[in-house]
Amino acid sequence: MPMGRVTVVDHPLVQHKLTYLRDKNRSTKGFRQILNEIGMLLAYEVTRDLPLEPVTIETPLQPMEGRQIQGKKLVLAPILRAGVGFLDGMLSLVPSARVAHVGLYRDPDTLEAVEYYFKAPSDLADRTVLVLDPMLATANSAIAALDLLKARGASDLRFVCLLAAPEGLAKFQAAHPDVPIWTAAIDSHLNDHGYIVPGLGDAGDRMYGTR
Ligand code: PRP
Ligand code: URA
Repeated sequence: MPMGRVTVVDHPLVQHKLTYLRDKNRSTKGFRQILNEIGMLLAYEVTRDLPLEPVTIETPLQPMEGRQIQGKKLVLAPILRAGVGFLDGMLSLVPSARVAHVGLYRDPDTLEAVEYYFKAPSDLADRTVLVLDPMLATANSAIAALDLLKARGASDLRFVCLLAAPEGLAKFQAAHPDVPIWTAAIDSHLNDHGYIVPGLGDAGDRMYGTR
């Protein structure tokens, strides 16, 4: 279901797994596993329109013109920590992708994103970059990650999340109108602590069993 630059991935498998994930009784193990599975399904959707180019190969019977994805390998850019939850699932579909790690945490008082780590391939300008984070709440983390990646040359960017708040979507689109978004759901609103409602709680804590 595309809405301007936002695509809500309403595939039944994604919606089914998302409901399992939201359940507060889901174990850490189950949460990680389902996030991984959803990552795989979202990878399928977000790469749906990647441009192809012709390539000549030989089957055991004769030469033929096949098609392959154009250009250099993709970059997957998880925002630490929770974005890592998508990584293995996505890499299982795009195993040659490069990985950029973007270390940001949300200050609990100001809700501003604080950078603590950044490591990316040097040729971001030549690659499509998929930025990964399950949660788009205030969008401060997503905007900071895109600022960092663009400052290092990236210009072909896509953002992939699981849940988005309407407030965060509006802020994101004002800051980075060129970057399309894929999400599994748009929830109701943010609460006074900047948490997505109904949401799923703190994604990083639920993934890693911290609190
Ligand atoms: C969470 C989440 C996003 C961010 C979203 O990370 O994974 O990165 O909050 O909120 P925002 O849109 O308001 O910026 P958190 O800072 O809790 O770090 P963690 O992933 O290490 O737990
Ligand atoms: N980060 C999370 O992990 N959950 C939210 O609801 C908001 C930010």
